[in-house]
Amino acid sequence: MAERMINLYSDTQTQPSKAMRLAMAEAPVGDEQRGEDPSVNRLCAMTAELLDKEAAVFLPSGTMCNQLAIHIHCRPGEEIIAHRSAHILNFEGGGTAAFSGVQVQGLDGPKGQFSVEAARAAIRPKDRYHPQTRMIAVEQTANMGGGAIWSLKDLTALGALAEQQGLAYHMDGARLLNAVVASGVAARDFAKPFDSLWIDLSKGLGCPVGAVLAGSREFIEESWRLKQRAGGAMRQAGIIAAAGIYALEHNVERLAEDHANARLLAESLRNLPGVSVDPETVETNIVFFDIAGTGLTADPFCAALKQKGIDLGGAGTRVRAVTHLDISREDIEAAVAAIRTAITVGDAITPSPRFAWVRSAVLPGLQDSHVSRDDLATAVDTVAVPGLVPGTQQH
Ligand SMILES: Cc1ncc(COP(=O)(O)O)c(C=O)c1O
Repeated sequence: MAERMINLYSDTQTQPSKAMRLAMAEAPVGDEQRGEDPSVNRLCAMTAELLDKEAAVFLPSGTMCNQLAIHIHCRPGEEIIAHRSAHILNFEGGGTAAFSGVQVQGLDGPKGQFSVEAARAAIRPKDRYHPQTRMIAVEQTANMGGGAIWSLKDLTALGALAEQQGLAYHMDGARLLNAVVASGVAARDFAKPFDSLWIDLSKGLGCPVGAVLAGSREFIEESWRLKQRAGGAMRQAGIIAAAGIYALEHNVERLAEDHANARLLAESLRNLPGVSVDPETVETNIVFFDIAGTGLTADPFCAALKQKGIDLGGAGTRVRAVTHLDISREDIEAAVAAIRTAITVGDAITPSPRFAWVRSAVLPGLQDSHVSRDDLATAVDTVAVPGLVPGTQQH
């Protein structure tokens, strides 16, 4: 295992910086449950101001922000319209159904987004048979859509549809500030049509924990009731809120560096054999690339790269890399070099006895040379290994 991990698995993998830790250590604190923690109150005021909403509440996670908002907006048996790849539909442990008795209708569409026409068509008829549509939810940026930014125009049009149909409109803003920095659109402009939205502190902003949910005063009062009920109300939480204050003051504009690094990664990966990625689709800090052309799948590919000190996520033949404040331009260059070696030399192939034997005994030094997978496969197939019949072993 490599000494230092270049962690591209997610922007949740950041380590709090020294300056952030210092801000946390020195934070004035009080009893959050009683509304008396000055740091929590300041963070909530800053977020409400940023998003131009009446109030905000500090929560342990983005997932809790989504789940509280769903619980407040919807009743059991009702339905939410969201993208098929949405976090609320796929990655929140079925919380929508478990806590609120609500189902999600997942819509198709490129880049993790759906059209206003698709949303309109998905609204259920008002009759006794159908689940009743209660909410439209979007992710800004769309995570599984490769960090794609919803345009202000589309968000505004969806908001108008929600208002016209009497639906709640909710934004999962886990990476809203990435969208703000990349597009130049103010957070409050993106936020305007939404009844509820939140920002995550523990992603690109680099905090160890926390998210802030914003909306009307009434909505936030109800959120507080649920936070208390769920055991999410804290005491001297200013210690962690101080990280959020620090991040909002120091770590927003620098998200542009993460976006430049993501673009560099995509542009470099495009030149590798068997890898397919379109750098034009990289709008923020997430890069999806497909390795189908290498004959590999994501699991052994990521496992082999982890051994080399590069952490990536993936499924099928799709691999995801996410840039963040602990990833430098040099890290991207090192990651690309390791991926190139893995693909061209075959380091990412699931190790098998024959493969390992050929590598060590027959082709020493292969790791650093540019030998194609076909050459390597031929070499493997022509070498007799004790106990193995050539051509029968997957490598
Ligand atoms: C789009 C999106 N929504 C929600 C979440 C959940 O955030 P948290 O990990 O803070 O619960 C994530 C986390 O990866 C996410 O990417």
